Amino acid sequence: MTGIRLHAPEPGWAVDADVVVIGSGVAGLTTALRCEAAGLRTVVVTKANLDDGSTRWAQGGIAAALGEGDTPEQHLDDTLVAGAGLCDEPAVRLLVTEGPDAVRRLMATGAAFDRTSDGEISLTREGGHHRRRIAHAGGDATGAEISRALVEAVRARGIRTVEHALVLDLLKDDEGRASGVTLHVMGEGQHDGVGAVRAPAVVLATGGMGQVFSATTNPPVSTGDGVALALRAGAEVSDLEFVQFHPTVLFLGAGAEGQQPLVSEAVRGEGAHLVDADGVRFMLGQHELAELAPRDIVAKAITRRMREQGAEHMYLDARHFGAEMWEQRFPTILAACRAHGIDPVTDPIPVAPAAHYASGGVRTDLRGRTTVPGLYACGEVACTGVHGANRLASNSLLEGLVFAERIAADLAEHGPHREGVARTGAAGAVLTLIAPEARRDIQRIMTRYAGVLRSAASLTAATDALEALRQGAEDDRKAAEPGVDSWETTNLLCVARVLAASALAREETRGCHWREDHPDRDDERWRRHLVVHLTPDRSPVVRTTGTADFPPVTP
Ligand code: SIN
Repeated sequence: MTGIRLHAPEPGWAVDADVVVIGSGVAGLTTALRCEAAGLRTVVVTKANLDDGSTRWAQGGIAAALGEGDTPEQHLDDTLVAGAGLCDEPAVRLLVTEGPDAVRRLMATGAAFDRTSDGEISLTREGGHHRRRIAHAGGDATGAEISRALVEAVRARGIRTVEHALVLDLLKDDEGRASGVTLHVMGEGQHDGVGAVRAPAVVLATGGMGQVFSATTNPPVSTGDGVALALRAGAEVSDLEFVQFHPTVLFLGAGAEGQQPLVSEAVRGEGAHLVDADGVRFMLGQHELAELAPRDIVAKAITRRMREQGAEHMYLDARHFGAEMWEQRFPTILAACRAHGIDPVTDPIPVAPAAHYASGGVRTDLRGRTTVPGLYACGEVACTGVHGANRLASNSLLEGLVFAERIAADLAEHGPHREGVARTGAAGAVLTLIAPEARRDIQRIMTRYAGVLRSAASLTAATDALEALRQGAEDDRKAAEPGVDSWETTNLLCVARVLAASALAREETRGCHWREDHPDRDDERWRRHLVVHLTPDRSPVVRTTGTADFPPVTP
């Protein structure tokens, strides 16, 4: 099962490695550091600069049972509740038990977390957590600090990195195993244009796909490249319908597009209140944790209240923090608000939900192995089973860390498979490219028809409109030339189609998937994962699998 690839020139150059890691967030760089430490020749390929991925934008922090009285078991309980019946419990158990030591190793790598006056790690709360469990850095600049420390470590270890490189397709050997990737590098000199990194182990750590919607907290690089590559390579993806909409994104106007400023859940964790257009605190009485209910519940409550009041946004009120606390604890958010003319010290902050995190992704087992031999995935691009239908706040950096270490351990233990004969050119049917102008059409279709609130009618409209874009591109006169923009747009269309097909198939409301026409959770029928692969003619095939069968059991 393989055989679709992007229309691209044949590789004009090649480099060799034992492991090629695609992506440079917490998952990618941790994989690279651990693989290098295990003696594996490692190359990191990243789309922009090493520190330009989603990790840098993470504000709130990294969740782990590090505080007095907290235990992995309590972290497990909160994660399972947030995941709304679809978490894979063995995967969550690994996450929460291996998490604390993985965070300590991250600190040993150089990441400096905020401390209390007693020198203990300072922990905050976020939605769905019954305890203070979130370690943070620089107040609300946790991702930036983690990224800084990992980038410095990668440079200090002399790990080879290729920046400004868009990965195109998976290379396979004659046994059908991963044997590297093709990529396009915007550079100068020997390695620019389309080339190949030949390696018997390929690790996808490409992050998310938030750019499939008009407004998102994700940076511009988050165009679903890893999921699209995996689908073309014949891998299975799962749970793509569970797109998490962050409840509190700074509202910059109804037509705001692209990356929007996040207002961390940690602001609510420290006591901020959500209020409606009349100043009423509407989360009270909706959930025992009020503003700190799991994220899907808060996002839905905000959306409902906006509809009831005909309002474009709600407000987050943290004026009672005072200037000093705002400056010390949330300097990044304070600066972002002020840059947009809002002073949280004196004004409630206008907020609305925006696309934030893909809870699903490329399906893996507990060692990060996908259904294509030699192809691994970790971080947001992966679906390890830990998030279920709704990721618990600040579990994502932890997942990236823990599963990166598990992948490196698997490679160190078994070694990359080297027996097949590698090819340098990607094989398979060539996919017609989508013109870059279609990007905004895709984003608007997805926002309008497959956003926070969905129905069979809206999702059918989405699939039809996306199919029309695809059909249009099949017409030779509209086919786009190879280039970064058309490759990215083609990836966006691919993941949008699979996401919409999955959301249409799931006829219930669960976690962050909200169906107006199926408003209830239906455990009998739908306590199952949706698993998707592409047919040779590029159509998504959706099947269901029970949670007990997930992830695939591998030795
Ligand atoms: C936030 O700071 O609210 C984001 C945390 C997360 O997405 O886990």
